[in-house]
Amino acid sequence: MKRIRSVPVRVTMRRLLVVGATGLVGSKLVKFAPNYGYEALSTHNARHPEDSKSFKLDITDGEATRMLLEEVKPEVIVNTAALHNVDYCETHQEEAHRVNVEGTANLADTASKLGSRFIYVSTDYVFDGRTGHYSESDVPNPLHYYARTKVEGEAVASKVPSYAIARPSVIYGWNPLEATGIPSSSGKTVNFAMYVLDKFGKNETVKAVNDQFSSPTFADNMAEAVLRIASFDGSGIFHTAGRSCISRYEFALKIAEVFNYPTTLVQPVSSKDFKQAAERPKNSCLSVDDTERELGVRFLTAEEGLREMKSQGGTNDPTHSIGSR
Ligand SMILES: NC(=O)c1ccc[n+]([C@@H]2O[C@H](COP(=O)([O-])OP(=O)(O)OC[C@H]3O[C@@H](n4cnc5c(N)ncnc54)[C@H](OP(=O)(O)O)[C@@H]3O)[C@@H](O)[C@H]2O)c1
Repeated sequence: MKRIRSVPVRVTMRRLLVVGATGLVGSKLVKFAPNYGYEALSTHNARHPEDSKSFKLDITDGEATRMLLEEVKPEVIVNTAALHNVDYCETHQEEAHRVNVEGTANLADTASKLGSRFIYVSTDYVFDGRTGHYSESDVPNPLHYYARTKVEGEAVASKVPSYAIARPSVIYGWNPLEATGIPSSSGKTVNFAMYVLDKFGKNETVKAVNDQFSSPTFADNMAEAVLRIASFDGSGIFHTAGRSCISRYEFALKIAEVFNYPTTLVQPVSSKDFKQAAERPKNSCLSVDDTERELGVRFLTAEEGLREMKSQGGTNDPTHSIGSR
């Protein structure tokens, strides 16, 4: 009998560079990238990831950014890096511009030269929040300086021949690095769900505004959508947010319900009682219908995302993928 010799097949994975891999979305992109046929290479800035292969990069250093990209030659670059503490950006505008606009331009310019696809993570805050349910074709009208830098970042990204802009809303999920308390250069301390769970764990009450509405976005769900965008043939804007349009107060209540804490630990407050340097949009909820149709993904409601988060048991289990639905 003729024997068939099996020939080992080398599957070539495409190189995807995650800029900001110590972050919440960045860490999920690295985790899920192999499921989508990508070898993930990653960068960090102030914090050190467990992955020793990560490159230290500050995107405001134009020369270092160019050299790293030219060395790695990624097919796809995802820029999750930003200074996104909204009130800090309001009072440190030059610094915010340097990171969110000039840093993005440093990446985008080299992406164009290398012919890499460039994905820029933006925000729901590009909208003024007067109507909510924003679609990709709605025109941004930023209320504060952080949002203005993100609109400028979008303009910079859209000059790359193959580009995509992904807009999430309040992002939540497990990132063990956030629990360490080591400050990120993003200015963010800890995401809302982890913050609330920490307070509940200490039996402390949480005050949350009941008059600002957004679309809480489960980081794992968002990362998997971005990995589909990486292989999507075409440039444009994608709303990559959760399906629920709820206030922070309602979101905190949902966290209590799903994680079995008393809802009495959540107290509603109005924006008027919360002194903030930057005015927040009242309703920046995003419509994800078009992105779902184009990418064949399903975005989770807040309840579904929180249940997934709970099922991960407080970890960042690398084998757990929610996949697309
Ligand atoms: N979090 C939200 O609720 C939210 C909502 C809407 C949109 N967004 C947007 O979504 C993106 C990702 O958010 P996230 O919550 O995943 O962010 P994150 O957890 O704060 O992580 C941000 C990442 O960017 C890196 N970084 C910051 N400044 C940098 C610089 N100058 N050079 C190089 N790297 C730098 C950080 O590195 P180190 O930690 O190592 O310093 C970190 O890896 C951001 O662009 C943000 O504007 C976030």
